[in-house]
Amino acid sequence: MSRIEAARAILAANDRGGYTVPTDRLYPFQWNWDSAFVAMGWATFDLDRAWREVERLLEGQWDDGLIPQIVFHAPSEDYFPGPEVWGVPRRTPPTSGIPQPPVLATAARFVLERHGEAGAERARAIYPRLVLNHLWWQRARDPDGTGLVATLHPWETGMDNSPAWDDALERVPTETRTEIRRRDTGHVDAAFRPRGIEYQRFIHLVDLFREAGWDATRMLQLSPFKVADVGTNAILLRAERDLLALAERFGTSQEREAIAKRISRKETVIAGLWDEPLGHYLTRDLIGGSLIPVRTSAGFLPLFAGLQDHAAELAERLDAWQRRGVSLVPSTDPDAESFEPQRYWRGPVWAVVNWMIACGLRETGHAVTADTVASETRRLIGDAGFSEYFNPIDRAGIGGETFSWTAAIDLLLGEEKRR
Ligand code: DGY
Repeated sequence: MSRIEAARAILAANDRGGYTVPTDRLYPFQWNWDSAFVAMGWATFDLDRAWREVERLLEGQWDDGLIPQIVFHAPSEDYFPGPEVWGVPRRTPPTSGIPQPPVLATAARFVLERHGEAGAERARAIYPRLVLNHLWWQRARDPDGTGLVATLHPWETGMDNSPAWDDALERVPTETRTEIRRRDTGHVDAAFRPRGIEYQRFIHLVDLFREAGWDATRMLQLSPFKVADVGTNAILLRAERDLLALAERFGTSQEREAIAKRISRKETVIAGLWDEPLGHYLTRDLIGGSLIPVRTSAGFLPLFAGLQDHAAELAERLDAWQRRGVSLVPSTDPDAESFEPQRYWRGPVWAVVNWMIACGLRETGHAVTADTVASETRRLIGDAGFSEYFNPIDRAGIGGETFSWTAAIDLLLGEEKRR
């Protein structure tokens, strides 16, 4: 089987009827940002299926615009916490109650560009749902109009146990009202996964929000964990630009004006997340008020959002890590004390993050480093398989296997290489 056939076969095997599970058993439902990347992967060979991925994710959208992190289309005993723990009232299909990085408008634009005029009706139908979602981010997570959206749970960032959350998470009590019955460590070596104490805090937050009735205003007031995540904010800025491109075709002039205004505000405030001493974009702790002094791969994502100012310094850091033999891009600075090369978001390399960083580097004029990140990603996947993530030191594939978003990124990078 060729490499392209192998990647396509993974998407087909993880297809559960119009939506793709990230991987069998470990993640048996539809995940928000996974599906956005996976839709782009499907778009390389099956445009109808790419739209279906987006449409099925939107089946989980709430009336207020939230696109939840998980849509529980079909029951499974393989995952904790399931829908009964989330306790979101009156929803079919059931969902979790928090967002994930908003890649969807970017994916929709990507699929439309592939499909041309033939895709216009599908895009037109989902466009208002994307607008509603971006308004949700503003109303629910930035009601004061600062330009930076708040994150209330590490799972919302997709980078669950990043060391950037360690101090802010200390404020979250470890007591839970839900019994913790982890399934992940039955599927994958516990050494690759978040620690028990982190899960206690993750579930404490779920308990708290469930008891607040998943009310966006109360959640924002109550949450002991509140950060302006540089990753989420950069991805949202990129998504606003892609939404604006869709609005040029499908939107009203008022919508275009509102989006353009948000873009310009976000450009200014995300630029303010640059930290001169560390030479990196950082997350702001919205309770303590300061920037969190940990370099992570999320700090390269302002490039994906189109911020040019520090692109050369960021590219140089990547080049320096690569010269030392660190596989790009480690999710945590390999020189940080908190770096753990095999533990989930505390060090390993993630193909989707690499794809966004490579796009950002290319678009800000750093094509050589972009090519290095892209070819490094392909090499890791080629050597270790379509793993969930990769150890940047020994290059082993770790976490879940036959992973959908890794296959999707391999298809995208493979195409770029052939061009
Ligand atoms: C998990 O359960 O590991 C997920 O990252 C939550 O989205």
